[in-house]
This record gives sequence, C-alpha cells and structure tokens, in this order.
Amino acid sequence: MKVYVPRDFSACALGADEVARAIGREAERRGISLELVRNGSRGLYWLEPLVEVERNGKRIAYGPVGEEEVAGLFDGGFLEGKEHPARQGDPEEIPYLRRQKRLVFRRVGKNDPLSLDQYRRDGGFAGLTRALTLSPQQIVEEVTKSGLRGRGGAGFPTGIKWKTTLQADADQKYIVCNADEGDSGTFSDRMVIEGDPFLLIEGMAIAGLAVGATEGYVYLRSEYPLARKIFEEALERARAGGYLGKDILGSGKAFSLNLYIGAGAYVCGEETSLLESLEGKRGMIRPRPPLPAIHGLWQKPTVVNNVITLASVPSILADGAEAYARLGVGRSKGTLPVQLSGNLKRPGLVEVPFGITLEELLFEYGGGTASGRPLKAIQIGGPLGPYLPPSLFSVTLDYEELAKVRGIVGHGGIVAFDDTVNLGEMARYAMEFCAGESCGKCTPCRIGSTRGVEVMDRILSGKRDAGTLQLLVDLCDVMIHASLCGLGGMTPFPVLSGLRFFPEDFGYTKADVG
Ligand code: NAI
Ligand code: SF4
Repeated sequence: MKVYVPRDFSACALGADEVARAIGREAERRGISLELVRNGSRGLYWLEPLVEVERNGKRIAYGPVGEEEVAGLFDGGFLEGKEHPARQGDPEEIPYLRRQKRLVFRRVGKNDPLSLDQYRRDGGFAGLTRALTLSPQQIVEEVTKSGLRGRGGAGFPTGIKWKTTLQADADQKYIVCNADEGDSGTFSDRMVIEGDPFLLIEGMAIAGLAVGATEGYVYLRSEYPLARKIFEEALERARAGGYLGKDILGSGKAFSLNLYIGAGAYVCGEETSLLESLEGKRGMIRPRPPLPAIHGLWQKPTVVNNVITLASVPSILADGAEAYARLGVGRSKGTLPVQLSGNLKRPGLVEVPFGITLEELLFEYGGGTASGRPLKAIQIGGPLGPYLPPSLFSVTLDYEELAKVRGIVGHGGIVAFDDTVNLGEMARYAMEFCAGESCGKCTPCRIGSTRGVEVMDRILSGKRDAGTLQLLVDLCDVMIHASLCGLGGMTPFPVLSGLRFFPEDFGYTKADVG
C-alpha cells in the first residue's frame, strides 16, 4: 500500500512534512507496512496537505490533513478508504481538477518527481525521442505551427524566437531558462521544477536541438531552496540516464545543462539583466537591440524562455502541433497554467485552455472570496499588472482580449481582493516596489518611482488638487514611454488602473479623473 504526502514547498509550509512524519510514526506504532511517497502538489492548495492512499491501483484523497488528525485517520480506517470529513474521494474526480485541461501539469503532483522510470512510464521523453528524428528546422516549424507564445509574460511567438537563433551563425549558442519567477502571486514555475523536473530538462534539450545550442542554463530564483535541491538531483539522474550530455540517447547529438542560482533581485527576471547576472555581473538591463536571440549570453545567440514555455514543448513534439493549436482561442493557443491567489476560497493552480472568462476562474475555480465579502478587484499579470474591476470579469483569458481592456496575461498570476482593499494604497506600493527594485540604469524609473511615492503620499494625505493629479498622470506617462525596460514601464499600470476604476480610493471622483 502506498500513501502519498506532497513535498511541494507550499504544501510543506502548510504542514506536509509534519503530516508525513506523523503517518510514518503511526504506521510503525501499529505495525502497518506502507510505502510513503513524497509527490509534488496537484495545486489544490486549499486542500493541502492533501494525503492520498493507494490500494489496488486506486487512490482516495484526504485533505486538508493536520498532523494532529493523523491518529484519528488511522482509527477511522483511512487506509481502507473509509469515510471521514476530510475525504475527497478519487483525486482525479475533484471537480477543480477534473475540469482542467492539463498539458504542462499532466504529471505534476501525481508521483515521486525524481523517479525517471515513472516519468518514462507516464509518456516522458516521447517529445525528445521524436525531436531526435527531426531536423532543427522541422522542430522549429512544429513549435511555430503550435502557436506557442512566451509564458513569461510578453507572449512573443516561441517559434519566431527560436528561428532567429537557429538562423544566427555562431560557434556556440545557448538555451537559458528564466526560472526567476519574481511576480507576486505566481508559483507555476516552482511547481513544475519541484513536481516534474524532467519535463523542463526535456523541453530544454528539445530547444537545444532546435536551434543548435549545445549548452543550457536554468537561472533559478534564489528563494526556491527545495526546487534547487530537486532540480540538482534530477540533473544528475538525467545525465546518468543518457538524456543529457555529449551523446543524447546514442544519437550523437549533444546538450548539457547547468543550474545557476539567481541573485535575488526582481529585475534579474528581465532577460538582459538575467544574462548579465548569469555572466557573474550585477543584474543591470542591457539596451535592446541587439536581442538576446542574436547577442545573448557572452554575446552568443541565446534563446531565453520561461519555465512554462519550455515545459510546454515536450507535449507539442509528442502529440503534434495541431493537437496543441486546437486548444485556445484566436492567437492565444494552447493552455495557460493560471495561478489563483489572494482573497479566494480555493487558491491554487488551474491549467485551462485560453478562452475561459475571468469570472469562471474566480468563482467556479476560486470559489469567490475567502472572507465572504464582495470581490472588489483583481490584479492580473504580477505586481505591475493593472487592477481590474468586476465589470471586466466577463473578459476572456486571451492576450488580445485582455489588451483591449488594458489588461495583461503576464505569467498567469491572478490576485484577488475583497472590498476592504484600498487601491490608492496598493498603487503607492507599486511605486515603492519599483523604487526598491529599480536597477538604476534609466532616469524615468530610478527617479520617477521615488517621485511617484512622494506624489502618492501627497494624494493619500489629502493634498488632492488638480495639479497633483496631473503631475501623477504626467509622471506615469514618462515612465511608460521612456523607461528602458518593463519594470519602470509597467509600474504606472496599477496606478493608472486604480485611478480609472477606483478614483474614490485616491480621494477623487470619476469626474476628477476624466
Ligand atoms: P518583450 O515584448 O520586449 O520581449 C519578449 C521576448 O521576445 C523577449 O525574449 C525578446 O528578446 C523577444 N523578441 C522580441 N522581438 C524579437 C524578434 N524579432 N526576434 C526574436 N525574439 C524577439 O518583453 P520583455 O520586456 O522581455 O518582457 C516583459 C514581460 O515580462 C511583461 O509582459 C511582464 O508580464 C513579464 N514579467 C514577468 C515576470 C515573471 O516573474 N515571470 C516578472 C516581470 C515581468
Ligand atoms: Fe533599470 Fe528601471 Fe530603467 Fe529597467 S526601467 S533599466 S529597471 S532603471
């Protein structure tokens, strides 16, 4: 008999390690023999720690389970799947999970993430095996046809980026995975690395074959110690299994992969700053052009992709571009792992095809606010994404549709707020965040964010004449149009969206803000 207890970082923050130890102790005390498996999390965080009991190949889930409940669960016969208030039944049938369309997350949370055998049994390396039979041009063509766009935030077509690097003439090219995941309310990169690390390794090896890069780096957020541990072990096993190195699976093709721990600055998630940091320098923005796809790491052609982008590639190669492109809407193809957090009853990871409305995500999956109070606003796309009011919740998850209402998909993080939030305070925080995280290279961001905090303080302390409002709007305009990178360029989004939709939180009326 097997009992699964997640070792995912968030599940552990909710007590999964203690629960695992208590289950081990209780089984020993009762003379029961069981195999304790530490899986990843399925992303149903409101049910974590989610314990699953497997008997005769069938699983029954119980959650959330507290350490103090373990003895009672044994008494109540949870190992036989008996009734209990925490019993959730077959985990795959929990509506939150059943209604999703999981491609990237199809394996995450089910098994021991470090079992190479299990990964292979579950269809792992099918994409790499096919890629080894194709030419670089054919792989790039397949990814282009799938319609996959960069999941780090900007949504740039992955096939075009890869083609640029493929066509660049150089003695060395690189694949760099941006796993810095600095956006607040996002955790999908961490979940993949902790819950299915071989998937990322496979995606990066395919990217290497596609563009002719023989070396890759994963730039990992320094605040992810468990992801680091798991990925280091996964790299060792993949190398030993012949999936990385000078001769991948006897094909004569080479790809080696290294892990690099990030410098701990938000700006290092911007691709050029990340490359500077990877080269051992302080994380400062490089002006673009030249693009990293042509002059990247050590000035060599470099594909910089986010974890989810690269982790989407194995299924595209395994199942074909058409299968992927059939999902989604318009120019937003495939699925997006949405991360729900903030004031919601059911926060967690929801992978769905593009085209779902924000309302469905927030209420059918998220369950509405945890506080039971009205949902006032959401912030989508990270700490510098705009605030959207309930009147826009009918908008669909789609790069172009969200852009029409000045929203962004970003890295797929949605943070919900009830009616106790003050969006004026939140807008001030965006300026403060930028002032703290600015790399200092350009004036609109370095000076503008500090002046922005001062202007916001004036407004929030009651000095709200029309001149101060105009000053704030002008400052935002300069930051948007004259900043060198997205950090300074996006900081005004929370401010301007807050002003537009919630002027009363700044002490203004709708007529004041126009
Ligand atoms: P961008 O639109 O300038 O570039 C997107 C990507 O496409 C880059 O990799 C760029 O090098 C590449 N690219 C552009 N034109 C190309 C061409 N002709 N050929 C080949 N490659 C080309 O966006 P940027 O500034 O790189 O990223 C901004 C986004 O980052 C924002 O939308 C934001 O949502 C996101 N972001 C994500 C964070 C996270 O934690 N994941 C943190 C902060 C921001
Ligand atoms: Fe640096 Fe800010 Fe300018 Fe970006 S916008 S280059 S983070 S100072």
